[in-house]
Order: sequence, then structure tokens, then C-alpha cells
Amino acid sequence: MAKMTEKKKHKLYSPLSSSASEIQEQLGLYIYPDKEKKVSVLEVKKSENSKVSKINDIDLNKWKEYSDIITDSLWLIGNRDRSGVHTAGLHGNFIPQIPHQAMLRYTKQGDTVLDTFLGSGTTLIECKRLGRNGIGIELLPSLAKKSEELIERELNPYNVVTEVIDGNGCSKKTIQKAKNLLQKKYKRDKVQLIIMHPPYHDIIKFSDHPEDLCNTHTTEEFLEKFSTVVHNSFELLEKKRFLVLVIGDKYNQGEWIPLSFYTMQKVLENGYKLKSIAIKNIVGNRAKRNTEHLWRRRALGGGFYIFKHEYIMFFQKK
Ligand SMILES: C[S@@+](CC[C@H](N)C(=O)[O-])C[C@H]1O[C@@H](n2cnc3c(N)ncnc32)[C@H](O)[C@@H]1O
Repeated sequence: MAKMTEKKKHKLYSPLSSSASEIQEQLGLYIYPDKEKKVSVLEVKKSENSKVSKINDIDLNKWKEYSDIITDSLWLIGNRDRSGVHTAGLHGNFIPQIPHQAMLRYTKQGDTVLDTFLGSGTTLIECKRLGRNGIGIELLPSLAKKSEELIERELNPYNVVTEVIDGNGCSKKTIQKAKNLLQKKYKRDKVQLIIMHPPYHDIIKFSDHPEDLCNTHTTEEFLEKFSTVVHNSFELLEKKRFLVLVIGDKYNQGEWIPLSFYTMQKVLENGYKLKSIAIKNIVGNRAKRNTEHLWRRRALGGGFYIFKHEYIMFFQKK
């Protein structure tokens, strides 16, 4: 009897030992990109009686053909897209697949995208590739200049306009600058998508600048400043359009601080409704991978789990 229980236990708790692709199949997971059947929205020819919504170019009559668009809330993304001028140069930049997916779902060609925490310019590079206009706000003048130069080097097959504003996203002046640019250069009053990838509070030190969100002294101050950016940029977004927030959580003195849920709350308080929350895998860089076993030791001793995911949240302006 004792033996049988042992056997049963073993069967129940045996860890997954199959290959990655077998596990993927067993769990019914879709790992993006599916190299075998990768078809881009840009390649699908619209049907004669195409059924296209107001917020993207997806022809619902051809929905089966869009194999490059993620529709699941679990985003298992393989390698970073390093094509064109994309680099992993800025510690803390997001993978290009994130703005790429967001733009395919929530913009049409010719629409305008605003990124309020531009960093190394990933969003604007993707704008050029997908035929969307883009405005980026970056606090640090040196980074803004570097990003502008990088974006400039990317090909511009759709002849779109991209502009980088060096300024503080919390300041009304910066938003006014974006507004003026929109009217003068883009001949529009509103943008059709906002992307926000703020510092995850103080976990990466981007600069010593006092207005850098990474230098806020408490979680409350961080949230207050983040909320100001959401509030100020609200008027620039067209009604019923989307805001995409990319954020991770952090640990502080043995406590998990859910920055993601706190920031989500701030967006909801500022005139948006929640449409989806996706969880994305984090793939560590080589340096981190070498210390993996140390983290495992710490996790086992400290009663916590090691961060392997971050959040992508999708909101719609009411
Ligand atoms: C997580 S990074 C964004 C990375 C970006 N998604 C990329 O792919 O390069 C956050 C950026 O926000 C900028 N930042 C911090 N506080 C800011 C503020 N108050 N206004 C505008 N930008 C700010 C930082 O300098 C940093 O470059």
C-alpha cells in the first residue's frame, strides 16, 4: 500500500522533462514567432468586401491568415528582434516585438503613435517599419539625441514622420510641445495609440536627473508622477483608442511590490477602461544567466519566486 502511494506521488509530481517544443504542445502554448507559418499583416491582401475595424487594418474576413498576431494573454516571445537598427544597447529597453504587436492591433497605417518614455527609440523604429507616424518623449537630452540619430538610420519605406521631444513627461509644457508638433507637422489634433514603458521605479538607474521616475524616493511618489504623465497625455489620445503599458514588479526588503497593479490602477483612475492584461516572459541576459543558480539559492532560502515575467496592459480611452 505504502509502495503504491509512493508510485502515485511520483507520477503526480514528476517535473516536466520533455523538450521545449513538447512542453509547448502539451500546454497548448503558442510561442511567438512561429517561424514555420509567419505571415505578416502587411502581406495579407484585403478581400473585396473586406471587414476592417476603425482601429486597425486587420480584415476579419481573412482572420485565419494573420499568424503573426498574438491573441493570447501569455506572450512567450523568443529572441529579441535585432534586425535593422534595433539593438539591445540601452539596459532596460523593451523588445521591438512589443510595440510591433501593439501597433498591428491598435493602429492603421498612417496613424500616429506617442511613446511617453522613449528611451532608445524602439517604438519609433517600429513606426517606420510599419508605416505609422511617431512622437517620442525622452527626459534625458543626450539619450534623446542618440535615439534620434538611431531612428534616422532606419529605412523609411512608408515615408512617415518621426519626432523626438526631449522633455519631462510630467510637465504640461512637454505635452504642449507634442500638441504643437502634431498640428504643425502631422496636421492632426490627436494620436491614435499611446505606449508607456516607464522605469520600474528604481530597479534600473537611468540617470541622476531629479525628474527621472527612477529617482523618486517612494513608491507613492513614483505612482504620483506616473499618474501625472497618464493624466497630461490623455487629451492627446483620440477617443476609444488604446494606451499600452509595459511594466514589471519589484522586490523591496523582502516584499513583492506590485508596481504593475498599482500603475494599472492609476491608468484606470484617469479615464481608461481595462481591455486585457498579458504576461510576457523575461529572458535574462547572459550575465544574469550566469548568476541564475545564486538566485535559486536565495529564492529557496527567502521564500520568494524569481521574476520571470512582466506585464503588458491594454487600456481603452472611454
Ligand atoms: C524603461 S525605459 C524605456 C525604454 C524604451 N521602451 C526602449 O525600448 O528604449 C524608461 C525611459 O524613461 C525615461 N524617463 C524617466 N523619467 C522620465 C520623465 N519624467 N519624462 C520622460 N522620460 C522619462 C528614462 O530616461 C528611460 O529612458
